[in-house]
Amino acid sequence: MRDVAAVVLAAGKGTRFRSDLAKVLHRAAGRSLLGHVLGVLGELDLGQVVVVVGHQADAVGAEVDSCGPPGGRTVLQAEQLGTGHAAQCALPALDEHVRRVLILPGDTPLLTAASLRRLDEEAGAGGAMLTAELDDPSGYGRVLRDASGTVEKVVEHADATADERAVREVNAGAYLFDRALLEDALARLDDANAQGEVYLTDVVEVFAAGGAPVTAVTAPADVIAGVNDRAQLARASSTLRDRHLHWLMTEVGVSVTDPSATYVDVDVEVGRDTVLLPGTILEAGTRVGTEARIGPNSHLTACDVGDGATVESTRAEEAVIGAGAAVGPFTHLRRGTRLGVRTKAGAFVETKNAVVADEAKVPHLAYLGDAVVGERANISCGVVTVNYDGAVKSQTIVEAGAFVGCDTMLVAPVTVGTGAYTAAGSVITDDVPADALAIARTRQTVKEGWAARRRAQPRSDER
Ligand code: UD1
Ligand code: CA
Repeated sequence: MRDVAAVVLAAGKGTRFRSDLAKVLHRAAGRSLLGHVLGVLGELDLGQVVVVVGHQADAVGAEVDSCGPPGGRTVLQAEQLGTGHAAQCALPALDEHVRRVLILPGDTPLLTAASLRRLDEEAGAGGAMLTAELDDPSGYGRVLRDASGTVEKVVEHADATADERAVREVNAGAYLFDRALLEDALARLDDANAQGEVYLTDVVEVFAAGGAPVTAVTAPADVIAGVNDRAQLARASSTLRDRHLHWLMTEVGVSVTDPSATYVDVDVEVGRDTVLLPGTILEAGTRVGTEARIGPNSHLTACDVGDGATVESTRAEEAVIGAGAAVGPFTHLRRGTRLGVRTKAGAFVETKNAVVADEAKVPHLAYLGDAVVGERANISCGVVTVNYDGAVKSQTIVEAGAFVGCDTMLVAPVTVGTGAYTAAGSVITDDVPADALAIARTRQTVKEGWAARRRAQPRSDER
């Protein structure tokens, strides 16, 4: 489809969202609405992509730069006078070699590349438009056909008579038009309608009247759904996640115990024979390897999980979990955590900016912040890196094979050398040399018979 330019309409405010953020920037299953549309366009081999921006033009333009195809450009529609006007704004920006124009709304994140290819395959002289039969067509433009089934026009919900509103075939807002015919039709539009807007949908009637009717290509309802409010956003998000989970299960070989209780964003990668247990939330930027076991109740954002790792009841952000590592339950891995191969980070362990080398263990109840832990080191129960003095953060280094005893406070900056031990309950303020034992606590005093003597004393209420 190299002779085709896509024009994405993304200038509107999205009043029905009741939001300070432009509608097309709201996210569904980890991507902006606009990002979904641009992602689908990336699957088609198009000659050009133009996005019409207006409301919050800079932010929407930045989204085009970050997730649009290379070379995608924006055109400003300074005043949002309607979808027809938006298309008029885009036309002058089209490259010379462009013969056909694929127009899409920026708020239809469920469109598929396959449905858009059908527009190309089935287009008649006037082009093609995507439609669907909906049980509840309210809000959409209705597709009106003549007795022979030829599309005559689209009437917007706000302008439709009761009879027209009963029509269940709706306009998806996605069209493939001949460029020259479109230019001509757009020049004839006006805003004499219920909303006082220049409707792009009116070109359908212009085409039909000119003897080049638009072919309707019917798609499934869950492909064409537009997102005009937050209830529709939630439904679209759910459909996008369902599709991605279905693909992971059927094409990759991921087991999902209960898809209805598993939330995986569309860009998340999961490897073969991994099991996702209920309550798992995998957000954008996350990658999980093969044969891993995630959940129940693990929420990972932008994490990398190695093959064969287990991550139970864990919250993790921007963390790397090595192959074969065991994490959880009730573990919080914060930004900058890197757990090596076959490491353990167990119950009630919190880490931040902490590198834990291969086979090191942090089995329970510890805080590691700004720390480097060497291979096979053991961080016992209750260990805390005292990394913050109220003004500056300092680093703790525990070298390979060291054993940090229970309840050790590691007052940073401090280093525990290779193979060294710290005694339980120590407050370590000075570096511990390799292979040494550091004890930093008061020596125990035992007072023989003290308890018995105390019990023998009269209690205050008996005096
Ligand atoms: C539109 C169609 C309707 C169709 C529905 C499908 C028209 C007149 N109506 O209605 O037939 O059933 O989509 O989802 O086209 N936009 C601009 N500039 C503007 C106005 C809108 O760029 O001046 C953009 C919006 O940002 C949005 C898209 O165009 O991404 C569609 O606009 P919206 O107001 O959502 O149209 P609908 O009422 O849903
Ligand atoms: Ca819409």
